[in-house]
Amino acid sequence: MGKVHLIEHPLIQHKLTIIRDKNTGAKDFRELVEEVSLLMAYEVTRDICLEEVEVETPMCKTKGYTMAGKKVGVIPVLRAGLGMVDGILRLIPTARVGHIGVYRDPASLQPVEYYCKLPDDIKERDLIVVDPMLATGGSAAAAIAFIKERGGTSIKLMCLLAAPEGIAVIEKAHPDVDIFVAAIDEKLDEKGYIVPGLGDAGDRLFGTK
Ligand code: PRP
Ligand code: URA
Repeated sequence: MGKVHLIEHPLIQHKLTIIRDKNTGAKDFRELVEEVSLLMAYEVTRDICLEEVEVETPMCKTKGYTMAGKKVGVIPVLRAGLGMVDGILRLIPTARVGHIGVYRDPASLQPVEYYCKLPDDIKERDLIVVDPMLATGGSAAAAIAFIKERGGTSIKLMCLLAAPEGIAVIEKAHPDVDIFVAAIDEKLDEKGYIVPGLGDAGDRLFGTK
């Protein structure tokens, strides 16, 4: 079973509270989502393998470490996942970015895939699927299934907020996937929105409502 990692660092909790605030405008919302994503990426990448190398300082030669093993891929679930990409790329500029477009049909809440472009070598990469909201879990579960169909094997899911329902869906559908979240909220409402949540992440990022 994949693990659920609740990242409760004070900086993340502080910024998340401003993100939740309905009076926070699109510019601050975007910047804060990027900052929280950067901070979360620090934890998500904690188990990256290192290899020993020699480095020459101005004083002498010494032992150092560089990232080894698999390279990283970041896969935002469109649209709202896009808001999390730049924060991660600031930490791991060499990561490749794939895109998966999934929207929730508003009536059935079922995920519909409308776009997919992934790096050729996803088999060889540690993949971080990003989406701010894990609500029913349908979108993330579908996105991960599409990535597996195309060869992805090492997958983590990183979200700002999750509902318990969404976590249960991912645990059942993808027990190999670790989930990283900044908060686990109380419940979903009758329209599948996370409560207390932050509203519609895509609309708040892109100012579409
Ligand atoms: C939102 C969000 C997730 C999904 C979560 O996207 O960004 O992808 O809903 O809900 P679920 O866990 O119940 O599937 P939305 O479908 O609103 O599309 P958007 O990002 O284009 O706004
Ligand atoms: N998608 C969102 O953007 N917000 C929610 O609360 C649930 C799904």
